[in-house]
Amino acid sequence: MSTNKPQVAIIGCGYSGLAGIRRCREFGVDCVAFELANEVGGLWVYKEEIGEDEYGVPIQTSLYQSVRTNSPKQTLEFPDFPFITKEDTCYPRHTEVGRYLNEFSQHFGLLPKIKFQHYVTCIKRVADQWELLVTNLRDGTNETYYFDGVMICNGHTAKPHMPNVKGSNRFKGRILHCHDYRRNDIFKNKKVLIVGKGPSGIELAYESSLVAMATYISCRSEDGSSLPKVISKPKIKEIKECQVIFTDESQEFVDIIVFCTGYQYYFPFLDDSCGISVDEDGQVINSLYKHFINIEQPTMCFIGLFQRTIISFLFDLQVQAFLKIFTKKISLPSKAEMLEWLKNENDRQKRNNIPKNRYYHLSANIVEYFEDLTTFARLKNIPPVLFKIFRQNERTYTENFYELRRWNFEILDDYNYKATLKQTEY
Ligand SMILES: Cc1cc2nc3c(=O)[nH]c(=O)nc-3n(C[C@H](O)[C@H](O)[C@H](O)COP(=O)(O)OP(=O)(O)OC[C@H]3O[C@@H](n4cnc5c(N)ncnc54)[C@H](O)[C@@H]3O)c2cc1C
Ligand SMILES: NC(=O)c1ccc[n+]([C@@H]2O[C@H](COP(=O)([O-])OP(=O)(O)OC[C@H]3O[C@@H](n4cnc5c(N)ncnc54)[C@H](OP(=O)(O)O)[C@@H]3O)[C@@H](O)[C@H]2O)c1
Repeated sequence: MSTNKPQVAIIGCGYSGLAGIRRCREFGVDCVAFELANEVGGLWVYKEEIGEDEYGVPIQTSLYQSVRTNSPKQTLEFPDFPFITKEDTCYPRHTEVGRYLNEFSQHFGLLPKIKFQHYVTCIKRVADQWELLVTNLRDGTNETYYFDGVMICNGHTAKPHMPNVKGSNRFKGRILHCHDYRRNDIFKNKKVLIVGKGPSGIELAYESSLVAMATYISCRSEDGSSLPKVISKPKIKEIKECQVIFTDESQEFVDIIVFCTGYQYYFPFLDDSCGISVDEDGQVINSLYKHFINIEQPTMCFIGLFQRTIISFLFDLQVQAFLKIFTKKISLPSKAEMLEWLKNENDRQKRNNIPKNRYYHLSANIVEYFEDLTTFARLKNIPPVLFKIFRQNERTYTENFYELRRWNFEILDDYNYKATLKQTEY
């Protein structure tokens, strides 16, 4: 690269990577984005295949064929680029989200910055630069690049978290993780056990209940909507050849077990010199200031680790905050102060008994985090109306799953919105 501008590498072109590319130019920063797929959108590019792709790279997307968003489009659009859906719904199908991200990329001229089918295999700190090893999947050649900064935007729903359940290796039926689930014909006339009652568990139990002979859902902490035609079970005690025994000693014959037990944060390309490690369950990343700046090497950031949030606006603000630090428009506190912040944050999570797999769930603290981030980075916060819509959506999701996608939202001004419940079926 032959410019005098600072250079940033962006790994991945889903919501977070696209937010990154969009803002670089405004800060006078050059960027190159590496994306292993041949199009933008990340998770929102549906693939029928599971396992590995033609190049031996693990399939990243966890989308299934019928997915609609579970958050309204107002919380999925980027600033200055409204999400206009073709269908009359605030909860678009995955194809609409993919289309929106494509149009966003074209509108802001992001595509020339992207090296498609380029797989980042190693990021290393070398002198005062970042060295990237990248495989060009088209011709199999390895390329080396050097950058001043790095935005890690590789997503967090590509590596399944599979719990170790006694007896699972002797089960004669089929076991899979929802990462590999695509369509509900696999449930037809079967007895299905869904494990985990997060969003995937609830959605797949619903999908199964439409066609299966019987659907059970096993969860270890009871919360969330109950579904007609789905029988609730406690945690699994043991799996036998054709049966599952639960902790209340009840037993059920099942043909398929789908683990909807979440995902792991995974950065196989980070060399030790990056100063980043992830706990053994893949749930918490060490050494991040405000959950996105690498304390050891602050020219590296992680965009989009949070779940249960207003993703588009949050990722956009994190990107802008990083670019302000990177271009020295604002400064970070000392390393000791950042580590002190991290300690206090970890203490707060422990005090509130937040399990590790909810470390990055932002919902309860969403307003505080946005306020803190925008104050720190001297950025304009998002309008309060978005938090209000977010809250109503979260409430409906837990209380009445069937109602969720019948809601329609209309933003009236920065503080007010109108919500109407459509009379259609789910
Ligand atoms: C089934 C499902 C439905 C969801 N629905 C919603 C929803 O309705 N609302 C919501 O707010 N959130 C939802 N989410 C959460 C979702 O994670 C976010 O919506 C968002 O897509 C995350 O964007 P991202 O850019 O961080 O990651 P991703 O979209 O996963 O993008 C990461 C990109 O990085 C690329 N990549 C990874 N490794 C490399 C590498 N080594 N080299 C080069 N490229 C690489 C991948 O190919 C991918 O394109 C859903 C998640 C799932 C699993
Ligand atoms: N648009 C959509 O419709 C849609 C569909 C699917 C997913 N998503 C999104 O995808 C992301 C991931 O959702 P997810 O549901 O796959 O993961 P998740 O939110 O991490 O939920 C995982 C669930 O598995 C349970 N679990 C974990 N280990 C377990 C064990 N050993 N035994 C029993 N249960 C166990 C957890 O229970 P605890 O609660 O007890 O920890 C939790 O309920 C979220 O952002 C979600 O919004 C969206």
